[in-house]
Amino acid sequence: MSARKRVALVGAGTMGGHHARVIAQSPDAELALLIDPREAVGAAMAERFGATWRPELPELSGIDAVVVAAATEAHYDIATTVLRQDVALLVEKPVADSLGRTEEIISLADERDLPFMCGLLERYNPAIMTARDIMTDPLHITAARHSPYAPRIRTGVAWDLLVHDVDLAIGLVGAPPLGAEARLGHFHPESLADAEDVAETILEFPGGALAHISASRIGQRKIRQLSIYERERLIEVDLLRRDVTVYHHVSENSVDEGLGYRQQTVIEIPELVSSQEPLTTQFARFLDVIDGRVDAARERASFLPAHRVIDQVIARRPSPVA
Ligand SMILES: NC(=O)c1ccc[n+]([C@@H]2O[C@H](COP(=O)([O-])OP(=O)(O)OC[C@H]3O[C@@H](n4cnc5c(N)ncnc54)[C@H](O)[C@@H]3O)[C@@H](O)[C@H]2O)c1
Repeated sequence: MSARKRVALVGAGTMGGHHARVIAQSPDAELALLIDPREAVGAAMAERFGATWRPELPELSGIDAVVVAAATEAHYDIATTVLRQDVALLVEKPVADSLGRTEEIISLADERDLPFMCGLLERYNPAIMTARDIMTDPLHITAARHSPYAPRIRTGVAWDLLVHDVDLAIGLVGAPPLGAEARLGHFHPESLADAEDVAETILEFPGGALAHISASRIGQRKIRQLSIYERERLIEVDLLRRDVTVYHHVSENSVDEGLGYRQQTVIEIPELVSSQEPLTTQFARFLDVIDGRVDAARERASFLPAHRVIDQVIARRPSPVA
């Protein structure tokens, strides 16, 4: 049994609050430091979870692991500073705000063979874990991740939202796509000029499987849905409500002398494989990577494909209609 890990958390915003609770509740870790330049917020959160507040990242002696939940624009400087001190790192998604910076961070972790994870949290959504368990041969995946507008997010929806479902599709199919087709929409007056509000994407995988993934921040409600089509089954996942429904079509015929329609479908609602909060499962996996129970090199490499796809997606601009 290894000693409790001393963890530093960077960022005391919305996600930082969730990470602080999960780290503090873990029997295998303690929240030692909480870093955020905003004293009122950072010091109050540190006090609530028994940690010490610092306005900026100190020298990391005595710290076993760092979790970064600062704004995406700050990830690169913080991540490289942590890795250069040979400390294990879990950085919120996306790893950084460009593919170049993401690759630099992961290469640095590779060179030093350090435990590294990115917070692609939906991997640990119990509904996704259940669908992954049930699924055998995905041919077609569709996903929609739509949200109301959040002015505090400065990156476009591709880095912020699309990355989750692209990562899930890659994980479900089991290979990176051969290519990505995308169209981007720029609609909101508060968005930066190069930060898209809608991203519609089609991925084509080796073997022919297809995924159509839609991300939007001009929605009026949160939608988080993913469907996996196999030859004989449809597996529908509601990631928000965390439920899974499996459909198998049996027959259809007309009734009432051709005026009506009748369909027979078998519907199955499987038991979820886990009821644990995704952030708790993700943090437990981070500890597994640190303690060598999960292959650190494979884990590091698993985050690159989704980031490569997003880079390809945002390189596209809508072509003008003549
Ligand atoms: N995995 C998920 O599902 C998920 C969901 C939401 C957000 N996120 C990610 O989490 C990160 C934070 O998002 P949020 O919604 O909590 O943002 P937020 O704006 O609520 O919080 C960001 C915090 O970072 C702090 N900060 C900024 N620069 C810093 C620096 N250099 N050092 C330390 N702290 C710094 C800010 O003061 C603020 O408290 C983003 O990268 C975002 O993409 C992930």
